[in-house]
Amino acid sequence: MKIIVLAGGLCPERDVSLVSGAGICRTLLEKGHDVFLMDVFMGFPYDPNRLEEVFALPGHGLEIVDRIHTEAPDLAAVKASRPDQSNCFLGPNVIELCRMADMTFLGLHGGEGENGKLQATFDLLGIRYTGPDSLGCAIAMDKGITKHIFQENGVSTPKGVCIHKNKHKKSLDDLGLSLPVVVKPCSGGSSIGVYITHTQEEYDSALAASFKQEDEVVIEEYIKGREFACGILDGNALPPIEIIPKTGFFDYANKYQAGATEEICPANISEEISERMKALAVRAFHVLKLNVYSRADFLLDEEGRLYCLEVNTLPGMTEASLLPKEAKAAGIEYGDLCEWIIKKSLE
Ligand code: DAL
Ligand code: MG
Repeated sequence: MKIIVLAGGLCPERDVSLVSGAGICRTLLEKGHDVFLMDVFMGFPYDPNRLEEVFALPGHGLEIVDRIHTEAPDLAAVKASRPDQSNCFLGPNVIELCRMADMTFLGLHGGEGENGKLQATFDLLGIRYTGPDSLGCAIAMDKGITKHIFQENGVSTPKGVCIHKNKHKKSLDDLGLSLPVVVKPCSGGSSIGVYITHTQEEYDSALAASFKQEDEVVIEEYIKGREFACGILDGNALPPIEIIPKTGFFDYANKYQAGATEEICPANISEEISERMKALAVRAFHVLKLNVYSRADFLLDEEGRLYCLEVNTLPGMTEASLLPKEAKAAGIEYGDLCEWIIKKSLE
């Protein structure tokens, strides 16, 4: 099959996406497909046999594939490397090349790659792509809308509100919340711009920082508990995985720095909690109108209460990412998972 793997783009999860894309590209090559990895912003395909070399070029966002990441990329530098490309999300030739392929595998994370806009564009152009449809992506990308839908449909989630920069005048008390609270951009990813705040000063500066990133911000009660993720394939839950950062929470550095986090799959929890988490993950998948695959993120508090934080419609897809690890625990190897996603997306 002729496959274009799309990755990169112009959002803070650019580097992470390039690593996912390279992994998907490699495994599909090993499966005998005709595959190209393309940076959606740069707009040209990389030589699949020289991925390490091409990523070493300045401005490509990644010095080497699988390098340790501690900070989100400098997007101004990425943009500056292609002044001709300006702010256009789709680089030259992307549409042409994707049209010629049998399938476009979306290795994108965050921003315009995951919020449904690319999916809607491809729908209109008749380009086949992997993962959930545009509507589900648009809904799930918005943490405020997700929270409303969860609350209306019995998917337990931390109490919280979504506020807009220009309309926000209320105190935490007025919002029905009290410290500590979590502050996060409404449509962010990889925990970029997420703050756990314990004091009014921390809260005020977190709010200011989050509003620099986005006009809408979610504020929610802080749940002290263990962190989990649960992948969903076509409405069936995979074995949950527990995420144990050595320090702090599962933030950007802990997500992508080698050895910073221990991940245990299947998670060491009772059958009852595991089944409850899986049922919630499947419910979340359906109420957000998702299809093909996704990954739901959870907290489990000391009283055994589960909270679904969000569902990621294009979750991390390196071989060492959470969903591929969960699939492996269920007996599905990485390459087979990628082929399954393609097959399901074509149905
Ligand atoms: N947004 C990152 C890639 C994830 O959810 O895995
Ligand atoms: Mg996310």
